[in-house]
Amino acid sequence: MKAIECIRGRRSIREYTDQDISNETLRQIIETASYAPSWKNTQTVSYIAIKNQDVKNSIAQNGVLGFTPNMHRVTECNTLIAVITRKGICGYNTDGTPTTSKGAHWQSFDAGIATQTLCLAAYTQNVGSVILGIYDEKRVAEILGINLDTSEVAALVALGYTNANPQAPKRKPVDELLTVIE
Ligand SMILES: Cc1cc2nc3c(=O)[nH]c(=O)nc-3n(C[C@H](O)[C@H](O)[C@H](O)COP(=O)(O)O)c2cc1C
Repeated sequence: MKAIECIRGRRSIREYTDQDISNETLRQIIETASYAPSWKNTQTVSYIAIKNQDVKNSIAQNGVLGFTPNMHRVTECNTLIAVITRKGICGYNTDGTPTTSKGAHWQSFDAGIATQTLCLAAYTQNVGSVILGIYDEKRVAEILGINLDTSEVAALVALGYTNANPQAPKRKPVDELLTVIE
């Protein structure tokens, strides 16, 4: 698949078939996602793949702030990915001081790049994805046993095969997006 096709063709997928995502496919997606750039190549992002229905149900019931659409996505997807970032490394010096005035911004930045790369990697495997930002980090961390002193639950991503073929929501025109200084 050409990069332009991958970037333009990926859509947020919110309806899933029952087809299982094999561990091999999952591993291929993560292997591709590992090529995302990161601050000084610190690679602080890792992934928890939740296939267990009870755990997905628990996150849907207790961890998405009661937002019904996301309850559906979490229970109905084949695999829910929790994107985890280690804190205090990306954007920081080895003595723990922030390298720039933007502090923890860069760890979120890296997590965002990694998450988009994961979604594009999934698309190349015909696996649909949707990033979920509406969740309760504390509750999700409790359910997954993540220590929020040292790590962050940076995003959830619902993965699944789909028969849906949603249209791209309208994008802003280039003239609105681009300023050229000559
Ligand atoms: C940071 C972030 C958070 C999002 N949170 C949600 C969410 O909680 N639930 C959902 O259904 N979609 C969520 N989305 C998906 C967006 O709605 C979607 O990307 C946008 O409408 C553009 O559609 P497209 O992904 O098909 O191009 C999120 C996307 C991003 C980048």
